[in-house]
Amino acid sequence: MAKRRVKVLDTTLRDGEQTPGVALAPEQKLELARALDDLGVDIIEAGAAITSEGERKAIKLISRARLDAEICNFARGVRADIDAALACDVDSVHLVIPTSDIHLKYKLKKTKREVWEMALDVARYALDHGLTVEFSAEDASRTGPAFLREFLSAAVEEGVQRVCACDTVGVLTPESSRKLFSDLAKRIKVPVATHCHDDFGMATANTLAAVQAGASEVHVTVNGLGERGGNAALEEVVLGLSHFHGIKTGIKLNKLYSISKLVERLTGLPVSPTKAVVGENAFTHEAGIHTHGVLVYPPTYEPISPEVVGHHRKLVFGKHVGSHAIESELKRMGLKPTKGQVHEIFEQVKRLGDRGKLVTDTELRAIVDEVMGRELKEMVKLEELTVVSGNRVTPTSSVKVRFGDKEVIESGLGVGPVDAAMNAIRKVVEGMSNVRLQEYHVDAISGGTDAVVSVVVKLTDGKRIVTARGTSGDIIMASVQAMLNGVNRLLWDRKLGGA
Ligand code: KIV
Ligand code: ZN
Repeated sequence: MAKRRVKVLDTTLRDGEQTPGVALAPEQKLELARALDDLGVDIIEAGAAITSEGERKAIKLISRARLDAEICNFARGVRADIDAALACDVDSVHLVIPTSDIHLKYKLKKTKREVWEMALDVARYALDHGLTVEFSAEDASRTGPAFLREFLSAAVEEGVQRVCACDTVGVLTPESSRKLFSDLAKRIKVPVATHCHDDFGMATANTLAAVQAGASEVHVTVNGLGERGGNAALEEVVLGLSHFHGIKTGIKLNKLYSISKLVERLTGLPVSPTKAVVGENAFTHEAGIHTHGVLVYPPTYEPISPEVVGHHRKLVFGKHVGSHAIESELKRMGLKPTKGQVHEIFEQVKRLGDRGKLVTDTELRAIVDEVMGRELKEMVKLEELTVVSGNRVTPTSSVKVRFGDKEVIESGLGVGPVDAAMNAIRKVVEGMSNVRLQEYHVDAISGGTDAVVSVVVKLTDGKRIVTARGTSGDIIMASVQAMLNGVNRLLWDRKLGGA
């Protein structure tokens, strides 16, 4: 039997952009729309044209970019919203009408009859102007089922092509979602969509239940962005549909990790390491028994392979490390240690991990070098670092380093002294080695104003990623040392041609 196919409406650019603190410039919205199209999204909700000049510019850019996806504009039940959408050349409108008593009484201050008439009038207006209409009931999950059915059916009679029931405040459970959507799918003659929020952490489960019950379109956002607890996450929903129910979407699963990274970069909202499917730890193993299991037979601790979603497996080292993980990492580095050396490295990693820290790549490599008699040559050496800061100057830093027989000097400005120093060192490093800083974390190891701080950076040269630490009583020195430790490791490994 042919697999069922469900449509995906991505609303990262509308509901996702309503995440507090997120606002995308028109060019960023276009970049993301192109990536969503490439991912295989069927419908892109690009924004609400009525919102602002910038929003209209963004929607126009997206509508005119000749994407395969249908470009949809969010609209309230007023003709001005439809006019604004038409001026942006969109294919469709997502016409949203509140239906619950609570929304009618406290938000719209209108009767059911008034809302009904207004909604059908605007739907007719949009259809008459050639737009496809997806007609949504806002707060549908708190609306009386009989009124909801009649209201959506009346819109279908008017000619709308799709309807949607929104779980606006995330109060459905898989059971009530199944009941709601089986009732709607049985009685409504056009495709029914589901739009779930994650206030109780149920959005993905409720979306899957709705589809099982007959919904044929899902509303989702990348990384589960959205107001409050967010929306159902695209990556979780499409993977769940495929893995648990054998239901197809047009989404290219192997692009899920990269689109998540793009959204993280554009919105500036970091994805939690433990986020399902796309989090940094989704395929990372530390504990000894787990790493051993994964090395012998990956499905032992990986229900899906990281490659399926374009992610990667990572073994990290800490106090739970097992000797098999150490052996496998050394093999990956192209080394042939003796049993005694593996044991010594294993003991040293455990001791370091016991101090409560994750062992960074540079620390692991330093242990390996010491035990195996390989010496890391410091290729980039700090010669001078100055930082000027105060209430009347822009924080400024200059850095002089020695790289072989060359001296490199750079300067940087910043919002504070650490930022200025990092900008200067970043220029030095990027200029000579194409190494980029991906992450920066700082921890105080001891309390007080004389605290010792530990800075961990994640660096990449495009091929490899290393984590490195710098520790000092001076946060600027700790930051600069962490950068140089990482750069030295990348450059030295590159020279050795391995690891
Ligand atoms: O959650 C919701 O109800 C919405 C509508 C406004 C579509 O996002
Ligand atoms: Zn929503």
